Amino acid sequence: MTPESFVIKADICYSETPRVLNTVQDGFLVCVKGRSAGVFRELPEQYAALPLLDCSGALAVPGLTDLHVHAPQYAFRGLGMDLELLEWLNTHTFPEESRYADLEYADRAYRRFVEDVRRGPNTRACVFATLHQEATVHLMDLLEVSGLCTMVGKVNMDRNSPDALREASACAAAKSTKSWLKEIKGRYQHTLPILTPRFIPSCSDQLMRELHMIQQIYGLPVQSHLSENQGEIAWVRELCPSSKNYADAYDAFGLFGGPGCPTIMAHCVYSDEEETALMKRRNIFVAHCPASNTNLSSGIAPIRRFLREGLSVGLGSDMAGGTHTSIFRAMTDAVQASKLRWRLVDASLEPLTAKEAFYLGTMGGGAFFGKVGSFAPEFEFDALIIDDSRYTSQGQSELEKRLEQTIYLSDERDIRYKFVQGRQIF
Ligand code: GUN
Ligand code: FE
Repeated sequence: MTPESFVIKADICYSETPRVLNTVQDGFLVCVKGRSAGVFRELPEQYAALPLLDCSGALAVPGLTDLHVHAPQYAFRGLGMDLELLEWLNTHTFPEESRYADLEYADRAYRRFVEDVRRGPNTRACVFATLHQEATVHLMDLLEVSGLCTMVGKVNMDRNSPDALREASACAAAKSTKSWLKEIKGRYQHTLPILTPRFIPSCSDQLMRELHMIQQIYGLPVQSHLSENQGEIAWVRELCPSSKNYADAYDAFGLFGGPGCPTIMAHCVYSDEEETALMKRRNIFVAHCPASNTNLSSGIAPIRRFLREGLSVGLGSDMAGGTHTSIFRAMTDAVQASKLRWRLVDASLEPLTAKEAFYLGTMGGGAFFGKVGSFAPEFEFDALIIDDSRYTSQGQSELEKRLEQTIYLSDERDIRYKFVQGRQIF
């Protein structure tokens, strides 16, 4: 199927950099074969014959990227928020994820998750499934049908979890990951595999070596968790006594970014200067998950420092550490968390602005997928058309202010159209 070419007339907002937001009132947004051809005040002659979708008065913004989300945790969102990470995993998360051995249960739960994301503002996501092959392939089938662009990982774990959620050995884990990759080869157009060691405490040294070999052979991207919680970090120190820090524990196995190994690390709440320097050298994408970090009392990640140091940063819902899939919600959470950090922890790191949070949720995370998250020419055409009349101040015409209210107040009711790579989702 060739993606469509068309023009949308709307009030258009998109980031160029964290601090530069482009706005064009009554502008023309041109999609040619699934990519943006740019944003124009007057429609250039060469596009005049394309079909025009007149959304005058509505906002057009790029689709949002959820850089870190656990699909099987959707069913118990909003529960267990009185616990910290390790207790929460043992009490709620691992028992719930064990249920995905049952394909009928997985089908019901994953359908709800996928429909929530399809209806909402996210167009891209990097998703953790569980270690179950059948259920993971089923989730990928559902995501493919939704039209969203995703990367999905069958989770690897061979230690420190209940029998029902642990592979029998490193070898068995590697074998089932290879079997999963074989099953899905050539099956999808916009649902890609991503190699997923859950986190260091779940993966033996032998499993990490096996995953490194798989990464090298298949050239897969990688996603995992890093420096989220102090108890977790102390545990990693015990498990990997020869590693300088948590990042080094991944790096020692060649599973920490670098050429040919694009990698997302969720959280990075406690990454110190040395760990941050390694993240920078390896071009790690930080998935900032402010709601989860608050709910599980993990802490507040130093996102302003990461931005100053030039790291790649996007936003994650971390469902069900977080309770909402919408990355608009993650934008407001990121701004709020940064204000508390500035007030209570470190006055030298000024709070994030709504404009910066918008960048993180669009271009910042989108960059993991390539040219994604902006309307600059050649970017893949992921777009939301949002009717903001329900909540914007009457007579408000300044686009930047309308966008700020949209970040804080919009919900799925307000999304009139949604496009991914030029395909109309609804
Ligand atoms: N670390 C290892 N697994 C998980 C998980 O499922 N959620 C979060 N927030 N952190 C983790
Ligand atoms: Fe997570």
